[in-house]
Amino acid sequence: MVVVPPSTLAIRNITKTYPGGTQALRGVSLSLRAGIVHGLVGANGAGKSTLIKIIAGAERPTTGELVWLGRSTDWRRPADAQSAGVAVVHQQSPVVPALSVLENVYLGNETTGLWKPQDRISEFAALCERVAFEIDPHTIVAELSVGDRQMVSILRALAQNPALILLDEPTASISPAERAGVLGAARSLAAAGVAVVFVSHFLNEVMQICDEVSVLRDGQLVDEFDRDGMSVERMVAGIVGSRLHAVEAVKPTHDIGEVVLDVRELQSTGMNSPVSLQVRRGEIVGIAGLLGSGRTSLLKAIFGADHRVGGEVVVNGHPLSASPQAGVAGGLALVPEDRMSQGLIGDWEIWRNTSLADSRELSRRFRILDVARERLLASRARRELGIVAPSIDTLVKDLSGGNAQKVVFAKWIYKTHHVLLLDEPTAGVDVAGKADLIKLIRDLAERGIGILVVLSEFEELLSLVDRVVVLRHGAIETEFSADAVSVADLTASVGGLA
Ligand SMILES: Nc1ncnc2c1ncn2[C@@H]1O[C@H](COP(=O)(O)OP(=O)(O)OP(=O)(O)O)[C@@H](O)[C@H]1O
Ligand SMILES: [Mg+2]
Repeated sequence: MVVVPPSTLAIRNITKTYPGGTQALRGVSLSLRAGIVHGLVGANGAGKSTLIKIIAGAERPTTGELVWLGRSTDWRRPADAQSAGVAVVHQQSPVVPALSVLENVYLGNETTGLWKPQDRISEFAALCERVAFEIDPHTIVAELSVGDRQMVSILRALAQNPALILLDEPTASISPAERAGVLGAARSLAAAGVAVVFVSHFLNEVMQICDEVSVLRDGQLVDEFDRDGMSVERMVAGIVGSRLHAVEAVKPTHDIGEVVLDVRELQSTGMNSPVSLQVRRGEIVGIAGLLGSGRTSLLKAIFGADHRVGGEVVVNGHPLSASPQAGVAGGLALVPEDRMSQGLIGDWEIWRNTSLADSRELSRRFRILDVARERLLASRARRELGIVAPSIDTLVKDLSGGNAQKVVFAKWIYKTHHVLLLDEPTAGVDVAGKADLIKLIRDLAERGIGILVVLSEFEELLSLVDRVVVLRHGAIETEFSADAVSVADLTASVGGLA
């Protein structure tokens, strides 16, 4: 006999219409139970975060009912849900960089007025043990990797001793190596009897840790299944519906021209040894490496954002001095990994965000915008990147996480002339959106732009690039033609096993 544990939270026929008219949820019902990891998947803008916010008391449903431990509830603010036993790790987790790990974990969680983080050291150690995570509680959060910051957010949620924990894309911007820790944490929480909701665009992770899955599409629950019925294909079918247009398996052949980016013996503070590499017009070159191998540092050094110690960066025959302004002026663009912190202004419309100049310096110099041109560009970006929004006048704060990321992407890619440096361009973007992005990057190469791209998903990387450079300990180790290397070989190579 299968024993079905009772619901921790039953969600009944929830709808949500935002002021402005967007119908984010249209009659969603599902049940979250103790000890179960419930996967929530869907395209960018499908309504996942909206559902999470409603459960967490941060948004109120337009109609429908939440039943908590058998009782109908009406949470008016996050504190109501929190005191009932709901903890949430939001898509963009607000850790405070200037505070220590310990202070972050107990922030806003103080029970008495006279409280010192020090008193919580043993409690903190117990929390860490629950999720098999080791960290010095006194470390300042600013010094942590994105993955460790995510673990701090999880510890902070855990410190509330919740009956239900909501994880909204906890692994979107961390490396595959770090994901294992977060995934393990989700499983051990369920094992301890917590009900867990896990939102992710990484369907293999959902396969790995979820006991059951709900698929949202355009605000509706279109499929649900447990482990028996679970497969990546079924999830993809539910997520994209008729939107499926897979990336062509065979790479289109394209012309590769003369060298457009020539990096000569480049040395910077973030790199261990001088790096030389070249990218040709129309060529897509990948950088593969583990976390800490220097991938982001290399892109920053080329762009001029890291302190240059020696060497040269030559774009189209012209040596560039080491500053982002010189990089932009010389025809370089960098789409950084940490896109949400790269100057998106929530209270501004999409079009005004995409037209933000590439650096603060530039925006000071060119204050006058050609509005018609910028709006045209934003319309093109919305179409080509599939940004889901009523119009280019939608405020960025009203966009879903993945769609906001596409806006930042748009802001950079339409301004480059020669070379595009991309750091994890598909993070946080849904399966169909990934296909759109890959196609767009290929089109840009087709137009003669040289592209240097960091991508942690090796399968995706190899499907995109012509050549891949392996980075290890801040130095170039070797390089492969993309046709001549398998995912397994590349994995071995970045780990120093080949
Ligand atoms: N505060 C808001 N005001 C108006 N519309 C909103 C607001 N928040 C979200 N929306 C809209 O509601 C819809 C659902 O957004 P939601 O953030 O729930 O998507 P999501 O499934 O989490 O997507 P992603 O995978 O990109 O994070 C989108 O069309 C979004 O633009
Ligand atoms: Mg979201």
